[in-house]
Amino acid sequence: MSTAKKDYKRITVKSLVEMKANHEKISMLTAYDYTMAKIVDGAGIDVILVGDSASNVMAGHETTLPITLDQMIYHASSVIRAIDRALVVVDLPFGSYQSDPKEALRSAIRIMKESGAHSVKVEGGKEIKESIKRILNAGIPVMGHLGLTPQSIYKFGTYTVRAKEVEEAKKLKEDALMLQKTGCFAVILEKVPAKLAKEIAEALTIPVIGIGAGNGVDGQVLVTHDMLGMTHEFHPRFLRRYLDLYTEMTTAFQQYVTDVKAVDFPNENEQY
Ligand code: KIV
Repeated sequence: MSTAKKDYKRITVKSLVEMKANHEKISMLTAYDYTMAKIVDGAGIDVILVGDSASNVMAGHETTLPITLDQMIYHASSVIRAIDRALVVVDLPFGSYQSDPKEALRSAIRIMKESGAHSVKVEGGKEIKESIKRILNAGIPVMGHLGLTPQSIYKFGTYTVRAKEVEEAKKLKEDALMLQKTGCFAVILEKVPAKLAKEIAEALTIPVIGIGAGNGVDGQVLVTHDMLGMTHEFHPRFLRRYLDLYTEMTTAFQQYVTDVKAVDFPNENEQY
């Protein structure tokens, strides 16, 4: 069912830039563990993001702020062991790159060395330019992330659409151009108006990957647990649910309880 224009055996940062040039959209999903990453990679997803959304999805925190560098490395190394084809991008967690460029580089090196990941992602624009440069100078590919940046949630106060006002839209465009000029291989735009996202994608030669940013960008990313319908409390307009796993899993677990209580499981064929 693939509509890929070229059969990539292994996705690299260069493949993504080539896909954009060839007008082939880029598919990206999150994974935080071996089993999920194996399925996602086997399905032909181009990029796997070990997102700091693991803080919410895996650990149940309200925000992405509490997750640590060690925890991100644990998730990333589990994902890396599963991968044959996808490019793996790992979020640098909150507090591991904002204070100074040397610390940013140390954090990125730890992710690359200890997990075997292929690249890192950072949130923010010109405020973190020096950190990005430092990481890039060490030969580590960097993906940017603008618009709704969940690590700054307490500065913004809400998870609503970003850059609706002229000033914020102008800064967003400038930051996107700066990320490209500095050497980032791609940029994520989260929850920004579709028209603005399209304009930015058209202005950049590096891929712009959207989440809640319309279809005028070069690719799409979703949180896997959301698109599978496992996280049923979360209903943003941009989210398409491909399954209702919350209901399906609940039904399966309830059936298991019933079977155990009724001594229907295990049956004769399910024992030694
Ligand atoms: O952490 C994450 O999952 C992300 C995506 C929402 C883009 O940054």
